[in-house]
Amino acid sequence: MFTSKIEKIRKEYPHNLMARHFDTAYFNSLEKNQQDKLQRMMKSGFENPDSEMGIYAGNVDEYSLFSPYLNNVICDYHQVKNIRLKESNWDFSGDLDLTSIDPSLSNSSMRVRVGRNVARFPLPASMSQDDRVAFENVMIDIFKKLIENPLFGGRYVSLTPGCEYEISNEQYAQLVAEHKMFKDMSGDRYLASAGINGNWPYGRGMYISEDEQFIIWVGEEDHLRVMVMKHGKMLNDIFSRLHDALLFIETHGLSFAYSAPYGFITSCPTNLGTAMRASLHIMLPKLTNNGQDLNNLKTMAKVLQLSVRGADGEHSQAGKGGLVDISPTARLMVSESEIAKKLYQGINDLWQFEKICKTNVTEDALSVK
Ligand code: ARG
Repeated sequence: MFTSKIEKIRKEYPHNLMARHFDTAYFNSLEKNQQDKLQRMMKSGFENPDSEMGIYAGNVDEYSLFSPYLNNVICDYHQVKNIRLKESNWDFSGDLDLTSIDPSLSNSSMRVRVGRNVARFPLPASMSQDDRVAFENVMIDIFKKLIENPLFGGRYVSLTPGCEYEISNEQYAQLVAEHKMFKDMSGDRYLASAGINGNWPYGRGMYISEDEQFIIWVGEEDHLRVMVMKHGKMLNDIFSRLHDALLFIETHGLSFAYSAPYGFITSCPTNLGTAMRASLHIMLPKLTNNGQDLNNLKTMAKVLQLSVRGADGEHSQAGKGGLVDISPTARLMVSESEIAKKLYQGINDLWQFEKICKTNVTEDALSVK
């Protein structure tokens, strides 16, 4: 029953990597308790056949446990032939100054985030309510140290009922509307199927620095999403701030789940490696046909190894006038400094293309006649 439904998904949804690489013989070779674990990992793609990945890990060790299957999925998604560990490298040589692409980019919205998990806790898909609250408490102790430090300052807000930092529903809604806090994940059917939104809102919260440019989400898709957001022109600024913050957290007693050959371990295999997504919001009215159509831009961006999202994040539409979010696709077998350079180069390429377009790019204009 399970395996025949996967076969059906494979035929009807060729982009679903969970189904594309499923191997019935491998599955049947596993012991029953391992089959159950693997089925749990595949549940999101099973219940949402339109998934592009369809897999979420529930424990750090599942990647090595099921590597004969998962490595095929990971290589396919990340477009690599085999997986080799790439060491971190946060060294930037030379300024990545957006104004050297175009002075009008001097006040761009720049954002970089990494996912991080802590090996001694189950991943969010498998956490109990007690795990979620215990993890939040570990983090609250570290946030106190961040808050005391003048480089960070700021505050922690919690959604956990009864927590001393608990905020009201209205305050939470306000932070979501300001794009600072994450949404209730039950609105994301992929995460919901994986159980990542379990025990909502226990163990969920956010640290935000004094200048509101540095944020850490607790209890979203990964244990932590650590991010820097800033309006400006020097891409280097956001990467070095993020790096400093991660070092601070690590020196205050938190060690992140990291294992060869993957690098940083994340719930979703799409984020393995650096777990980094670095993006810029940019207006591309011609390439998006005034924000009405992202498909043509996505096709172009794919060639440049860039991903396109709407201005409101994953699965959203382009904003007014063609405002989109552009990020380098690669996370695995690439270093942090390479991602920074790819973002700079990718923005440059798309921008030059937008400038030379005389009219809006439509499907018609792109098709080869
Ligand atoms: N689970 C969804 C899919 O397979 C999203 C995958 C990537 N996004 C993410 N937030 N992990 O299409």
